[in-house]
Amino acid sequence: MALDGLLVRLLLVMAVAAAVASGVPAPPGLAVGFYNESCPHAEEMVFAEMQEIVRKDVTLAPALLRFMLHDCFVRGCDGSIMLKSRNGTGERDSIPSYSLRGYDEIDQIKAKLEKECPLTVSCADIIVMAARDAVFLTNGPWYEVETGRRDGRVSSDYDANNDLPGPNNTIVDIKIYFSFKGLGWKDIVVLSGSHTIGRAQCITFAEDRLYNYTGRGIQDPTLNKTYAATLRQACEPGLERDTTPVEMDPSTPYTFDLGYYRDVASKKGLFTSDQTLLDDPWTREYVERMAAAESPDEYFRDYAEAMTNMGRIEVLTGDNGEIREVCTAYVD
Ligand code: HEM
Repeated sequence: MALDGLLVRLLLVMAVAAAVASGVPAPPGLAVGFYNESCPHAEEMVFAEMQEIVRKDVTLAPALLRFMLHDCFVRGCDGSIMLKSRNGTGERDSIPSYSLRGYDEIDQIKAKLEKECPLTVSCADIIVMAARDAVFLTNGPWYEVETGRRDGRVSSDYDANNDLPGPNNTIVDIKIYFSFKGLGWKDIVVLSGSHTIGRAQCITFAEDRLYNYTGRGIQDPTLNKTYAATLRQACEPGLERDTTPVEMDPSTPYTFDLGYYRDVASKKGLFTSDQTLLDDPWTREYVERMAAAESPDEYFRDYAEAMTNMGRIEVLTGDNGEIREVCTAYVD
């Protein structure tokens, strides 16, 4: 009897732990190795292409990682970021996506897969695989990706303008954006660590952080002063569309490591949305712990889980959606 009670409690604890760990439940139809039979070399082929792409231009690794965020947060991970609009009203025409790169590379990977397995591998899955490979190719973790997503046919700049968080957002706003997508505080703090690689253009942060903090014509007082001086040298004041790129984790801009957390912990997070992770007790604790961590192992495990969660947002599976031949088809 006592043993039965213990067993029940243990099973309950395990069930709760699994639910907490998995965050977003796995939608039916998504599975690791979905293409094992229909296109057995799909993942290897994506990886081989990504190796070439990143070898030729390492800046495409962060670009393609960011691509997954912009696909998944807007109408789910359904490849709709790729769709073109003659009227200029597609997701790719939206304000947050104007500097997004990687469209040609996703098309290039898709073309290879179409030759090997016609109409089998979705654009949505290619984006998720490419993001995983981008992380690995910059020294980040390798993790299994779930596949089986199908492609959506709707792409709207309105959705993209509304559903993507912005660099000036505080933790309160970011929690709202993420919770709408079924993601929690841990996903926020872990996925924000993606800013350990890549660049941002001055226009995305200069006004808010360097020249006109909260409209008061001052520098953000929470920004490290030495770092602010370096950023001021890079970004001209008052230049309306300053597209000068600045590396987000300047000491190791193309190495996926804990550098981001060290930056944020020392008030050198580039965006308000990075620095604001210190404003919440849970995200702050995580930032400080990762900043002091000797090994990235725990972070890498968390990252794999958080990327899996993001990859589950509003996916189309089974008979929903389609497998598009050309990812960048026109919607109108
Ligand atoms: C918390 C909310 C987030 C905000 C407000 C945000 C905002 C931004 C902005 C404004 C840029 C600069 C874009 C440019 O100037 O070209 C950027 C870059 C980037 N973001 Fe985020 N981001 C967020 C979360 C994420 C997440 C969840 C990922 C993970 C997939 C991610 C991955 C990246 C990467 C890798 C870059 C560098 C892109 C490049 O070098 O081309 N971001 N982000």
